[in-house]
Amino acid sequence: MKCRICSGNVSKFFDLGPQPISDAFLLPSARENEFLYRLQVGVCESCMMVQQAEEIPRQKMFHADYPYRSSGSALMRKHFEAVARRFLATELSGRDPFIVEIGSNDGVMLKTISEAGIRHLGVDPSGGAAEASAECGVRVQVDFFDETTAGTILARDGQADVIYSANTVSHISYLDSVFRGVDKLLAENGVFVIEDRYLGDILEQTAFDQIYDEHFYLFSVRSVQALVQLHGLELSDIEHLPVHGGTIRYTISRPGRRVVGPEVGRLRASEPVDFSVFDDFARRAADIRDELVTLLARLRDEGRRVVGYGATAKSATILNYCGIGPDLIPYICDSTPGKQGRLTPGSHIPVLAPESFADPYPDYALLFAWNHAEEIMAKEQAFRQHGGQWIMYVPGVHIV
Ligand code: SAH
Ligand code: TYD
Ligand code: ZN
Repeated sequence: MKCRICSGNVSKFFDLGPQPISDAFLLPSARENEFLYRLQVGVCESCMMVQQAEEIPRQKMFHADYPYRSSGSALMRKHFEAVARRFLATELSGRDPFIVEIGSNDGVMLKTISEAGIRHLGVDPSGGAAEASAECGVRVQVDFFDETTAGTILARDGQADVIYSANTVSHISYLDSVFRGVDKLLAENGVFVIEDRYLGDILEQTAFDQIYDEHFYLFSVRSVQALVQLHGLELSDIEHLPVHGGTIRYTISRPGRRVVGPEVGRLRASEPVDFSVFDDFARRAADIRDELVTLLARLRDEGRRVVGYGATAKSATILNYCGIGPDLIPYICDSTPGKQGRLTPGSHIPVLAPESFADPYPDYALLFAWNHAEEIMAKEQAFRQHGGQWIMYVPGVHIV
C-alpha cells in the first residue's frame, strides 16, 4: 500500500474489521443493506503519516443529514469562542481582514467572528449543519473544500489572512488538492491553522476508538511537518491542547514569514521512530476489547443494567470492533437531535434523549463520550447519588 501523502511504503499495523460509517445513524426501518467497509490503518515508512487503507466516497460521509453538531458541548463552545477572540486580537486586527474556515459545521467558531463584523466564510458540505450556522449569522458555502472551491473563493472574495480548520483536515484523504487550494487562497503573510487529535496521545492512552472512517489520518508533528513541506509551506508553531483527549494546533505559514517556535522541534523529538509502538498499540487495543466484553457479559449475567452515554462517532469503533450490541447495551443516551430515535451504525443500538437516562437510572453507564467526562458527570451527578457507576475504557477498562 502506497502513502496518500508522499507515495512511500505504508506498513499496516491494525485491522479493525468490517465497520460502518461512524455518523450514519439509521432509521429503524433502514437496517438492511447497511454500507460496511474494512477499517485498517498503517504508518508510512517515509513520512510517518498514520493513515487508513480504504477511502470512502466523501459524499457518503458528509451530506445534508450528517448529524454531528460541534455546539453540543459547552466545553467546545468555550474553546472555539477563545479561538475566535484570539484571531480577532491578532491575525484579524488589520485592515479589512478575511477568514475562511474549512469544516465550519454549525458555526460554533465563526459566530463570534461574524458578531465582530469581520469578513468570513465557512465551507462545509453538511447542509444541515451549514443551515444551523447560517441561522447564527455565519456566511457559509455548502461545499467540500478543495483546489476548485479555493479557486472560486479567491475569485469572489480575494485572499484569506487566516484559513482555520478544526477536526476536519484529518478527515480529508485528498490533502494534495486541499493544500494546492490553501496555497492559492492564503495571503502572503497569512496563516493556515489546523487543530486535530494528536497521535502521541492516542498511542499513550490506547484510545483506539479515535480510529474511524472520518479520521482518515492520525497526525503527529513529524508527519504534518513532512506534509506541509511537501507543499512548500512551513510548520511555524504548535500548541498541545487537552480537548478531545489530546489535540495539537498547528500554525502553518509561508517559509521564512514567521519565527519557528521551539515547541515544534521539542515535541517532534519525543515522537516514536521505532514501529514496534504501533504493534504494541494494536495488541493493547485487543486486550481492552476482551476485558470490556468480559465485564459487560458478567454484569448482564449478574442482572445489572448497563446503558451507554454519548453516541459518539468513536463509539462505532468500540461497538463494532468488540461486537457489542443491544443484548449488552440496550440503549445509548445522547443530546444530539439528529441521532435520537435512530440506531447506532453497525451495532443497531437505539439512541434515546438524555431524559431517558433517569427513567430509571441504570446500575452502570458506559461513557463513550469520555472526552466530555467532566461536563457529562457534572450534569448527571444524580446518577451517582442513586448508586450508579461509570464504566470507562480509556486509558484502560475501569469503573469510577
Ligand atoms: N470544526 C468543527 C466540526 C468538525 S466535524 C469542530 O471542530 O467541531 C468535521 C466537519 O468537516 C463536518 O461538519 C464535515 O461536514 C466537514 N467536512 C468534511 N470534509 C470537508 C471538506 N472537504 N471541506 C470542508 N468541510 C468538510
Ligand atoms: P464527540 O466526542 O465530540 O465527537 P465524536 O462523535 O467525533 O466522537 O461527541 C460527543 C457526543 O456526546 C455527541 O453525540 C453529543 C454527546 N453529548 C451528550 O449527549 N451530552 C453532553 O453533555 C455532551 C457534552 C455530549
Ligand atoms: Zn508518506
